Formats: sequence, C-alpha cells, structure tokens
Amino acid sequence: LGRAWAVIKVGGSVFTDKRRPFSIDTRSLEDVCRAIRRALDDCVECVALVHGGGSFGHYVVSEHGGLATRDAFCQTVFFMRELNQVVVEMLNLYGVPAVGIDTHAFVGRLDDLGGVVEIYMERGIVPVLYGDAFISERGFEVVSGDLIAWRLAQALKVTKLVFVTGVGGILRDGRIVSRISIEDALRVVGKARGYDVTGGMAMKISLGIDAIREIGHVHIVGRECLYQALCEEEPSCGTMLEP
Ligand SMILES: Nc1ncnc2c1ncn2[C@@H]1O[C@H](COP(=O)(O)OP(=O)(O)O)[C@@H](O)[C@H]1O
Ligand SMILES: [Mg+2]
Repeated sequence: LGRAWAVIKVGGSVFTDKRRPFSIDTRSLEDVCRAIRRALDDCVECVALVHGGGSFGHYVVSEHGGLATRDAFCQTVFFMRELNQVVVEMLNLYGVPAVGIDTHAFVGRLDDLGGVVEIYMERGIVPVLYGDAFISERGFEVVSGDLIAWRLAQALKVTKLVFVTGVGGILRDGRIVSRISIEDALRVVGKARGYDVTGGMAMKISLGIDAIREIGHVHIVGRECLYQALCEEEPSCGTMLEP
C-alpha cells in the first residue's frame, strides 16, 4: 500500500464563474479549503493541490486567441499567479501551510516538477500548482491543471487522486454515475468542451487513460464531496473512475 498522500485538482469552474472574467466564488473556495484542512487532520498525511484557470486563465487565453504571442504568454502567467495567490491565502486562513509553485519556471522540464513537489509535501507544506503557460521545444503552450494533476499523482505514487469539478461527477442521462470505467466515461462525455481552452471533461479524462492503470481508481466529485473522497474508501457521492 502507498502512503496516504493525495493530489487534488480543483477545477476553475468550482470557485470562479467561467462566463464572468476575473470572478471568484469565495464561498466555494472556502468549502474546498475547509475540506482539505479536515482531511489533513483526519486521514491524509500530505496534499498537493492543483487548480485550474477558471475565469482567469481560460479567459485571458481565449481573448488572445491562444498563446502565440509573448503578450499572451506573459499576461496568462500574470493573471494565473493572481488567482494562485487567492487560493494560497485562503488555505493559509484555514490553517493550512501552503505555497504557490510556478510550473512555467520549469521551462521544458515538466518531469522535474514531481521531485520539487515531493520535497514540499515531506515538509508538511501544501504546494499549490495551477494550469499554466509553459515554454517547451514546441513553443508557448498551455499545460492544464488536469495534466499536472495526473502526472504528479503518477510521479508521487499517491493513494488518492481527486478531481473536484463544478458538476458533482460524471453525468449520464443527467445523473451522477457512482462508478464507471475510463473507456465508458469517454463515451458518455463525448467531446464536451464548454468554456475550457484545455478541452474540458473529455480531455481531463483522456489524459489519464494510461495513468489510471498505475494509480488505480480516481474520484471526480463536487466540492461537497471532497472530504469524503479523501477520507473514505468508497464515498457515497461523486464518481469513481476505474481502469
Ligand atoms: N457527461 C458529463 N459529465 C460531467 N461533466 C460534463 C459531461 N459532459 C460535459 N461536461 C462538462 O464538463 C465540465 C467539466 O469540465 P471543465 O469545464 O474543464 O471543468 P474544470 O473547471 O473542473 O476543469 C462540466 O462542468 C460539464 O459542463
Ligand atoms: Mg477544465
């Protein structure tokens, strides 16, 4: 059995309104931070948090029509760091020691992220990463919070990977399914994208096709289910995604 470490990805859709630029839903962010505080008290040793771009990153990238220019790149980083500070501050308010980690500082070396994140976690500090602009050999690109979360979970061999999203799980015929294989989930979700420049729910799931065999099941839940997903083996809420 692995150690009781968790990677949590909180979608921007959970604590911002993607249709209103630069809006933050403080109540929802408080719910998330409270759940993390309680889980650290009760059942998990270390947490790495990754958050999405919500009405900050996705808005800035769409306004620029992508990340082709230096301006687009720099502004995306600027506004994502603002959002990141808000998340870190709220964690601190809930008594969780946390620091922001900038993926863009790892230029071209995404694989180095895991080792750095691990050092913070070992010291009892919650590293707070985010979907970010990034320079690779292909040029400027967006690295989604979803991708960061899947890769960290693999690198750190965590026991829990939880995606918190605005809807309470994976919906089939308008209802949350409690367990589903990753293949079936992709069929159910189709190509739904919404206000997400990195591909929405469909891309979120497909990024984990290989990873999920190593990690085992992962949870896709609403914020009201985060604590249960972290602390219970089979939570009675949200969706358990299986290989
Ligand atoms: N079958 C489905 N089940 C759940 N969500 C779906 C489904 N089809 C489309 N979606 C959309 O995917 C969205 C989640 O993806 P995304 O907008 O990227 O969220 P996040 O901000 O958490 O990354 C949901 O808010 C929902 O609108
Ligand atoms: Mg998304």
